[in-house]
Amino acid sequence: MCGIVAYIGPQNAYEIVIKGLQRLEYRGYDSSGVAIHNSKKVNVFKQKGKVQDLIDFAANKDTKGKLAIGHTRWATHGLPNDINAHPHQSGDKKISLVHNGIIENYAILKEELEQRGHQFESETDTEVLVHLIEEIHKNSKYDLFDAVRIALNEVIGAYAIVIINSDNPNELIAARKSSPLVVGIGEEEYFCASDATPIIEYTKNVVYLEDGEIAQISLTNGLKLKTIANQEKTPYIQELEMHLEALEKGGYDHFMLKEIYEQPQSIKDSMRGRISISKSKVALGGILDYEEKLINAKRLIFVACGTSWHAGLVGEYLLEEIARIPVEVEYASEFRYRNPIIGEDDFVIAISQSGETADTLAALKLAKERGATLMGICNVVGSSISRETDCGSYTHAGPEIGVASTKAFTAQVTILTLMAMMIGRRKGTITNKRFNRLLVEMKAIPDKLKTVLKENDLIEKIAKIYYQSTNALYLGRGINFPLALEGALKLKEISYIHAEGYPAAEMKHGPIALIDEEMPVFVIATKDSSYEKIVSNIQEVKARKGKIIAIVTQGDKEVKKIADHYIEIPKCDELLVPLLATVPLQLLSYHIALLRECNVDQPRNLAKSVTVE
Ligand code: G6P
Repeated sequence: MCGIVAYIGPQNAYEIVIKGLQRLEYRGYDSSGVAIHNSKKVNVFKQKGKVQDLIDFAANKDTKGKLAIGHTRWATHGLPNDINAHPHQSGDKKISLVHNGIIENYAILKEELEQRGHQFESETDTEVLVHLIEEIHKNSKYDLFDAVRIALNEVIGAYAIVIINSDNPNELIAARKSSPLVVGIGEEEYFCASDATPIIEYTKNVVYLEDGEIAQISLTNGLKLKTIANQEKTPYIQELEMHLEALEKGGYDHFMLKEIYEQPQSIKDSMRGRISISKSKVALGGILDYEEKLINAKRLIFVACGTSWHAGLVGEYLLEEIARIPVEVEYASEFRYRNPIIGEDDFVIAISQSGETADTLAALKLAKERGATLMGICNVVGSSISRETDCGSYTHAGPEIGVASTKAFTAQVTILTLMAMMIGRRKGTITNKRFNRLLVEMKAIPDKLKTVLKENDLIEKIAKIYYQSTNALYLGRGINFPLALEGALKLKEISYIHAEGYPAAEMKHGPIALIDEEMPVFVIATKDSSYEKIVSNIQEVKARKGKIIAIVTQGDKEVKKIADHYIEIPKCDELLVPLLATVPLQLLSYHIALLRECNVDQPRNLAKSVTVE
């Protein structure tokens, strides 16, 4: 959460920082601000609202300068307002700082600093940090870099920070712990950002800071790295593989719609080089060294949050069915605060689009301490989770910018399907015939998905009928039950309609009481082993005058007769239905949110990358 951008070099820093903040707006968008160095002084502009509000506010102001830091905020401590927006400054206004994370011991530090005469303007933990740095810098022999390093040894919590000093137009100081930070290295210019998207159009050479590292980025002395314990480190420069077009809307009205439509390609990309029909093989390169261990694992534990947790639930079904390995799916935030029983024979697998979710990362660290092998299924290359794990598979879905996750989910499910097939094949828990049939079916999914996307107009019509509902119910059984949860989450997060996902048979134990003629009930009712059962569940809803919107298999007769509306998806193996049936649910939420005039890409109160616990 919160996005950070910084620039030092010959170009107009404000423009680069603002453009970068717009790319990072998915991380938080309740307020934003910049600090620009301009001949011995630093101009700070901050504004509640979107980055566009900041641009409007700064339109007639002096934004000249070659050194700047910027921030787009998702509030943790203190209301979203102009004062609490970052950057924050030291008492003498010489040091300016942007921060992503939480300083947990800020209250104690603040008390001590107040006793020493510091006065605070905001309610934030961040302002405490910049005053702490000032205090150490002023009352010691330490230069600013060392003062920052020493201050960071005193704080508890998470941070990615970038600092500028009005006395030094040639330097940025950056550091991270548990919140991401990337340094971009150009020709006599440097960039810092929470992820690589603000950097990509200027340079492909980046250094991902590790936890506990602090960087001195100087136009005269280059990039120097140390740990906060004062050990020198050699920067490891990596080349970015990202393309700029992937960060643009490409003619679509919203990133979410673009990302929904990208799924035939993103699923193909997730499978690329990993399946071979002619060799009858699935190979996941990133886990090759751990394959033996994975196959012999006593148990797999998925840790994840949000939509990624739903992918884990689909994965549970796939792995238990195909590979016969017991699977547990854990909310990372619950798992880490229990005293979970984890052993050396366990494989703990983090599923995360961003690879930065704080709770998921912390769950992994706990599992590592207890000896488990760690695997990551991440989308963002070079992210913290991908670096923390022993092995992993990237989903390769390309950048996902809409806050509501769409193509990352289907890419995660693709990887989990391949993983189940790979293990099942090695363990002999799947017959050759079934394995080969699944291979062929997997290859066919992208084309089948294109057929599903053609239902968009019909889905929009259905959305027009139900967009004013205040409640909605989503039902599914077996492997489609997690889709009911995911469908409900998508509707909630972008259209603010209260929605619940339920296993269809469980409906009788509570939610059925909610059903009346006002209640739309979305049912995944594809032709599979529980088809007859779900038909009965639909009848139960109809008997209580609920409205049924069903996702059915092409050629279905029974459900079509009883449903108020239906959306067809092509026939496929029942284990692969989640890859197809999710998409109409995504489109339904998209259109409903649009009709309700909601901000589809940046829903209220949410952020894409949740880097606070
Ligand atoms: C946030 C996002 C969700 C996402 C979840 C987990 O809540 O809004 O879309 O599913 O975080 O994020 P991750 O990056 O770990 O998959």
